[in-house]
Amino acid sequence: MRQSISIAILLFCSIALKAQERNFDPFNYSIQKQSISAHGAVVSAHPLASMVGLSILQQGGNAFDAAIATQLALAVVFPGAGNIGGGGFMVAHLAGGKNIAIDYREKAPYLASRDMYLDSLGNAQPRLSLETHLASGIPGSIAGIFAEFKYARLPFQKLIQPAIDLAKNGFAITAAQAASFNANRKDFIKRNSSATAFVKPALWKAGDTLIQPALANTLLRIRENGASEFYQGETAKMMLEEMNRGKGLFSAADLAQYTATERTAMNFKYKKFHVLSMPLPSSGGILLQQMLGMIEPYHLSDMGFQSAAAVQLMIEVERRAFADRAEFLGDPDFVKVPVSTLVSKSYLKKRMADYTPGKAGNSLVTRAGNVKESEETTHFSVADNEGNAVAITTTLNDSYGSKIVVTGAGFILNNEMDDFSIKAGVPNMYGAIGNEMNAIQAGKRMLSSMTPTILLKKGKPFLIVGSPGGTTIPNSVFQTIVNIGEFGLSASDAVNQAKFHHQWLPDSVFIERDFPQAIAEQLKTMGYSIKSRSSIGRTDIILFKKKSLIAVGDKRGDDDAEGY
Ligand code: GLY
Repeated sequence: MRQSISIAILLFCSIALKAQERNFDPFNYSIQKQSISAHGAVVSAHPLASMVGLSILQQGGNAFDAAIATQLALAVVFPGAGNIGGGGFMVAHLAGGKNIAIDYREKAPYLASRDMYLDSLGNAQPRLSLETHLASGIPGSIAGIFAEFKYARLPFQKLIQPAIDLAKNGFAITAAQAASFNANRKDFIKRNSSATAFVKPALWKAGDTLIQPALANTLLRIRENGASEFYQGETAKMMLEEMNRGKGLFSAADLAQYTATERTAMNFKYKKFHVLSMPLPSSGGILLQQMLGMIEPYHLSDMGFQSAAAVQLMIEVERRAFADRAEFLGDPDFVKVPVSTLVSKSYLKKRMADYTPGKAGNSLVTRAGNVKESEETTHFSVADNEGNAVAITTTLNDSYGSKIVVTGAGFILNNEMDDFSIKAGVPNMYGAIGNEMNAIQAGKRMLSSMTPTILLKKGKPFLIVGSPGGTTIPNSVFQTIVNIGEFGLSASDAVNQAKFHHQWLPDSVFIERDFPQAIAEQLKTMGYSIKSRSSIGRTDIILFKKKSLIAVGDKRGDDDAEGY
């Protein structure tokens, strides 16, 4: 009975114009796409995770408390990308003015080596970096959550409890989740030697209950013993046993020595804003600074939103930023990256010297990759009434990562090793190529595209933004910022209007299906190869107005905005 009620309600997506009282019932909830509120807001990929974060704010937690509770809840209710077996990045602005970037990206195990995914003839074997125990980097999410906890206020037990309850007692899955579990059913069965929570005898349907007892127990142990449980305790032991079973590379030393790293956030001016974003080992912040820097001299706003001229300029800017990504970027703890040159005004001006309005550029490299569509990675944004703002993007890489569940511990392992350049010039699952800068080395972090970002205006938060979507992430964030900063779109339109994507190679422009056809035709006339794809990113933002917070969950998923 309870399930049939929830199916009906799940099919109803509401847009709340005012912050409303929303009951937290894991078996009966709706998706709220926009919330306008006065005190605090949370927007994430799943309504239950957003509601958990909101309730923490309402109980006196700050944005960090709410972010941690949301992140842990996402590991339960959004297992395709929410995780404790993956990694991620946080960018935050503290009410007192301090800016923080925390890097908890996975690291290559110590036994990993440059050519580990090549066969005896030197050919790349991408299956190994995506579908096997060899695909996983050492997970960073739990170390990251405890690094975030330094800025929180409430006891950790309170922040993790909703996730434990959701895993133990279950929740009703959405229609999109049912379809996703069914689509991945064969892989879950093939890649796991024991039963997982994501496969049941019959196919899933909307409103079915997902219960994850093993994950609940893992979270309980973390509640009792902290991060050391994951990296040195019973959970670590289970991960090592899992690796033994599947000939993976994790060692006890890899786990015990993993640490999250505080880095200096990218901090640069764009128009009247200060932009804070993620530095290396994510390419996101550098790409964003390059793209915003390259458009600056061109008066984009006069060209008009989705005009052929504006879209062409942005495509060419994306092309150049991604070409630099492939050539220059890698883990700064291992390789020297000329960051200050790459983002300098004079360099960016030179990069645009060969830009010809009305004529398609050419990536001038023969090898082209395939861009795979995937709902991997998840971003969430949190704001409190004290002036703290938190942007977190976290991932298992592909949807459900390697799809290998740690036996007994109930969580999915990432397949982040595929974000390394497994062989120079060979595209990864996003079609991105790289070179020695992003080659595999023991203990190194693979290059990312995640772009958790905060815009400040007069020193106060103006916009919190981020997205999933692999290499499309920096472009989704770039276009959302430009939609607001140049074209004056509403928060909802900035997120939901059709997006486009160019990443140097393959030399094609990917457009969403609702992108205006007339503009696509004009781009073709200019010489662009145009390809259509179902969706680009899922951008979850909070926009700060004088007296209110407008939180928007992207129309492209179950994303949900809550506020009070
Ligand atoms: N795994 C996607 C990224 O980090 O960019």
